[in-house]
Amino acid sequence: MADRERFDVFKRAGDIVRAIPDCVYITTKAGGKVNTMAIEWATLGNLWAKPVFVAYVRNSRFTREMLDKNPEFTVNIPSGPYDRKIFRICGGKSGRDTDKTAEAGLTLADGQKISVPGIMELPMTLECKVIYRQDQDVSLIPEDIRNRFYPHNPARCHDTDEDDHVTYIGEIVDAYILS
Ligand SMILES: Cc1cc2nc3c(=O)[nH]c(=O)nc-3n(C[C@H](O)[C@H](O)[C@H](O)COP(=O)(O)O)c2cc1C
Repeated sequence: MADRERFDVFKRAGDIVRAIPDCVYITTKAGGKVNTMAIEWATLGNLWAKPVFVAYVRNSRFTREMLDKNPEFTVNIPSGPYDRKIFRICGGKSGRDTDKTAEAGLTLADGQKISVPGIMELPMTLECKVIYRQDQDVSLIPEDIRNRFYPHNPARCHDTDEDDHVTYIGEIVDAYILS
């Protein structure tokens, strides 16, 4: 049984925001599968009088399909050094063809207010319910950013890292450290 030490999101906001550029993870659950992906484009804030975590997920991700089936996710934040296998697998492979939970050796801990589990190896956990979802309108993005991140040019489309993002605003409904 996992222990959960609850915390106030805004009191720990510095820890959460500092972790984002180094990469945090989001976990989803749908159709009997649990799937975790690395994410570094995200924001933490206050919207509609709620604490929110905003995740930017490219259309091509399996995570996007999972979120559209079950609009709940956990944010999984490392605390100190962790097995780099988790980074390689969750940031480099798709849950479409891999059971990343098994391959990365993740230990799941039941969600408390949502159906999606947290991850013992990435213990700082935010449970989120999606309250808003929006496809990006790439035409509104400044040209230099558009050209760099959304070239939409088949000649340069060597992988799936060029398609549009979907913005998911998740209300943070629980926050705790797993141990
Ligand atoms: C450090 C790092 C940060 C990443 N950040 C994002 C991100 O913010 N949004 C995104 O859509 N993909 C991001 N990715 C890519 C996904 O993690 C990767 O494509 C993953 O395999 C998708 O898994 P899925 O298909 O199971 O959802 C990142 C990858 C790495 C290594």
